Order: sequence, then structure tokens, then C-alpha cells
Amino acid sequence: MNSQPSQVNSQSGTQGDRILIFDTTLRDGEQSPGATLNGDEKLAIAKQLARLGVDIIEAGFPFASPGDFDAVQRIAGTVGTENGPTICGLARATRQDIQAAADALKPAVRGRIHTFIATSDIHLEYKLKKSRAEVLAIAEEMVAFAKSFVKDVEFSPEDAGRSDPEFLYAVLERAIAAGATTVNIPDTVGYMTPSEFGGLIRGIKENVPNIDRAVISVHGHNDLGLAVANFLEAVKNGARQLECTVNGIGERAGNAALEELVMAMHVRRQYFNPFLGRPVESEAPLTNIDTKQIHYTSHLVSKLTGMLVQPNKAIVGSNAFAHESGIHQDGVLKNRLTYEIMDAQSIGLTTNQIVLGKHSGRNAFRTRLKELGFDLSEQDLNKAFVRFKDIADKKIDIGDRELMAIVQDETQHQGTDGFKLERVQVICGDRECPTATVTLCLPDGREITDAAIGTGPVDAVYRAINRIAEVPNQLIEFSVQSVVAGIDAMGEVTIRLQHKDRIYSGHSANTDIIVASAQAYLNALNRLHHSIQNPSLHPQGFQDFVVQPAAHA
Ligand code: KIV
Ligand code: ZN
Repeated sequence: MNSQPSQVNSQSGTQGDRILIFDTTLRDGEQSPGATLNGDEKLAIAKQLARLGVDIIEAGFPFASPGDFDAVQRIAGTVGTENGPTICGLARATRQDIQAAADALKPAVRGRIHTFIATSDIHLEYKLKKSRAEVLAIAEEMVAFAKSFVKDVEFSPEDAGRSDPEFLYAVLERAIAAGATTVNIPDTVGYMTPSEFGGLIRGIKENVPNIDRAVISVHGHNDLGLAVANFLEAVKNGARQLECTVNGIGERAGNAALEELVMAMHVRRQYFNPFLGRPVESEAPLTNIDTKQIHYTSHLVSKLTGMLVQPNKAIVGSNAFAHESGIHQDGVLKNRLTYEIMDAQSIGLTTNQIVLGKHSGRNAFRTRLKELGFDLSEQDLNKAFVRFKDIADKKIDIGDRELMAIVQDETQHQGTDGFKLERVQVICGDRECPTATVTLCLPDGREITDAAIGTGPVDAVYRAINRIAEVPNQLIEFSVQSVVAGIDAMGEVTIRLQHKDRIYSGHSANTDIIVASAQAYLNALNRLHHSIQNPSLHPQGFQDFVVQPAAHA
């Protein structure tokens, strides 16, 4: 790994005329209940984040488990290329965490270690059981330790929003003196209001003597629905890196939403320009994001995490660009600007209705997928093409949304070590007792068939699967949506299962919703099964916080 800090970071961040986008979908986003991703899915999202143009990808918490370590390492090697983003790994302020992050990041051209320790009195007393003096010393020592591996070190005082500002200034000064190149200010519990958060950033600028040696970053949760507003106020007061997630997914109410921040600064750039020292009328983008990739990225993250996007969600909700009332429609037809502040095409929503059908060949299929941003390996392309032909035989036209569903389903959902659906058949109707027969291939290679009756066909399928798989769980959510309008549309099924205190999601699309339901259920079950066998640590949990003395490092 080249240990130079991110070029973008050193060129633009500290010059202060551009906002760095630090995406934490794969770390904080993946901490959302039920959003667990496997390694292939994480890699697919990381590749798309690189296409989207984020500056830094926080790829995970490598110390959490061997699976998390591998995922960060793969992303570092595949996406952290010369022209790619900086790849970051999270580490608590302990030697073993920092060592794991440094090891996982080695393949990246530009790697960043992000280390953190809480600074609020409530966290010190109940979580860390440490004094302020101890936290100050740990922050300094661990930043210096991280610096011995990489030049690009980010430090976060967790729960900064509820920390005593004077103590915060002191910790930040020591972290910067020890080598932190970015200091990130988290509103961990989503408690702050915009003017308070802006004031906090201004206070840091004014009271941390060496602050000009680091980029000020912000991180915030959306418990009061204020995360994006807080960040925009932070930008006005000197923050130059924003930590956000696609669709705003994350712990509890989520993180600040990437697409909302980026589009706010894009649509209102003339408002923000002066705060970045630019002429008001400058048209130069404030971020490096290719806004046309936003819609697809949102869709991909939603499908792979199983976190559905609410229809009225700003920017990426299905209603975000829809006009129902006749008065609005009339206005938009006469002049779009009467009721629209941005163009649907600017986020990559296309009116392009290119459709493929059963006579379309491999070349047309490959070309359209390339246009949609998929760069598939030959093997994935073959799998997706077989599935496409199968669906095209049942359905006359296949549009872009359906193509995306096919490709995502075929190439990204099938774990190699889980249960596989071999066959599913149901009998149902108003005079029938819903009965399902299911054949599964087990992780050890055995093929088992069983049958069950249920209150309906999907219930019968799930009971039959449970009889074979024997993985205890509780179904807590089941939803079916059509990929596009129309009676012959493909159905997309999203499932959420609970096991003990954790939630697991699964997703699948098919023209037959019973098959999609069975597959989605198995995808969720496979995640559950995998995580029972590979437990992983939560970075912000109450586990004992042990700082190993240097001699044992
Ligand atoms: O919310 C938070 O404080 C975090 C830190 C680890 C940055 O996620
Ligand atoms: Zn967070």
C-alpha cells in the first residue's frame, strides 16, 4: 500500500474549495438492523460507489470477524486502485483493531485508518470506564500507532455532539499533533440541531490551534431527522468532508443520506459557493459525484441490503419526481420549473424505454447492461443471459428495471456455502388446502425434499423450507412489489427474519412470485446461517475496551 494520503484529500480537502464525500454505507450503513451483506455484495456496492465518484469508501471494520477482514481486503485490492477512491477501515482505539485495519488495507493504493474513542462524559463513565486524562492519552497514542502504518489517519471523538467542547478541543489538538490528517466530528446519537452543529464546527475551527493541519469531517445520525440539515450547516462553518450513506441507511434512524447532501449542494451550489470561497455564480461542481449514478446506486443498495426506500424519500423515492395532481402536471408540461427544482435525468432516471425480448441476442443484452453500468465477468454474463432468456420466454418485453433485477438476482445473491433452491411447487386455490413441495440442496451437498401445508401458498413454502433447513427464525416482514407496472411484470420479494436480537433480510425477483418468495426466504436464511457460524463484533458495542501496552503490540 502506498501510504500517501488521498490525493483528493491533500489537494482539495485542505484547500477547502471542494467537499469530500466519505461513504460509510458498507460500515455504518451495514450496522442497520437486517442490512448484513456478504463479501460479494459488499464488493459489488464498492465498485458502484467508485463509479458514483465517492472520494473515500469506509469498507468495514476489519477486526469484527475474518469475514469483515476479507471483505475490506478484497475491496482494497479491487477498488482501491490508482484512479479509484481511498479505502478506509474502521478501528477502535486499540492496537489489535488498528493492526487488523492496517493489514486489511495493504492492497489499496491509498489506504486510510479511521480510529475512534468516545469523549462524552456519559460514554466515559458507562461504556469506557475511563477518565478524561486516560482518553486523551489513548487518542494520542493510538493515532500515532495508526500513523506508523499509513499517512492518512482519521480520528473521531465518538459522541462529540454531547462532549464538553473544551475537552473536545484538547483531544482534537492532541490527535492532530500525533498525526491525524482528518478529524471527524460525530453526532453519534442524532441529538444536535443545525445551528448547534454549525456552532460546534466553528468552535473547533476557532479553538483547536493546529486545526489547519487537518480536514474537518462530520458524521451524524438521523434520530431527529436533522442529519442532512446539520451537515449543510457544518459545511457553511468549515467542514470539508461529509460521512454519509446511500439511502441514509445506518444505525437506528440511519445516517445522513448521500444523495440528499449531494443534490442539495448541486441544486443550490450558488448558495453554497461563497462558503467555499468561490464566486457565487461558479458552475463548478462542489463534489466529485457523478449525479447520474445516484438512482442506480440507490436501487442496488436497497436491493442488496433489503432496506426498502420509502416512496416519498427525497431524491430517490419512487414518488420523488412523480406529479399526481392535475394542476401540477399541467404546470410541469407548460414549464418544468413551475414545480420541479431538478431534472429526473440528473440522478440517472431515464425515460429511455429500450426493451429487450426473446429474440434479443447476447450482444444486445451485454450492450444494454454496459449502458446501465454493469461490467460483468463472462461467467456472470452467461448466468444472467440464461435467466434473461428464461424470463423473456414467459414475458414479451423486458425493460431496464427488470434487466437490473435479473442481473442483481443472478450475479449477486447466490452465496456458495448456503442452502440452494432446487425445486418449488405449490397447489392452492379457493377449494384447495395450500400445499408446497420443496427440494433444497443443503450446504453439505445432500438434496432433500419435503412438503407442508400452510395458511396460503407462501406460508406453505416457508414451512416446507423450515422443515428441511431447520434454522430457527421468526418471519417479521414480507413484501412484494412489481418491478415495473403491468400484469406480466416481475415481482420483487423482500423478506426480513429475526433470530435472537438480530435481523436478516433477503431479496429476489421473478415472474413467479412463489419462486421469488422461496428464493428471498433462502437468501435471508443463508445470511442468518452464515452469521451464526461467523459471529462478528460491533465497533460501538459495550465490549471490554482493552488497550494493550506497547510492549505486547
Ligand atoms: O456514529 C458514530 O459516532 C460512529 C463513529 C464510529 C464515527 O459511527
Ligand atoms: Zn455512526
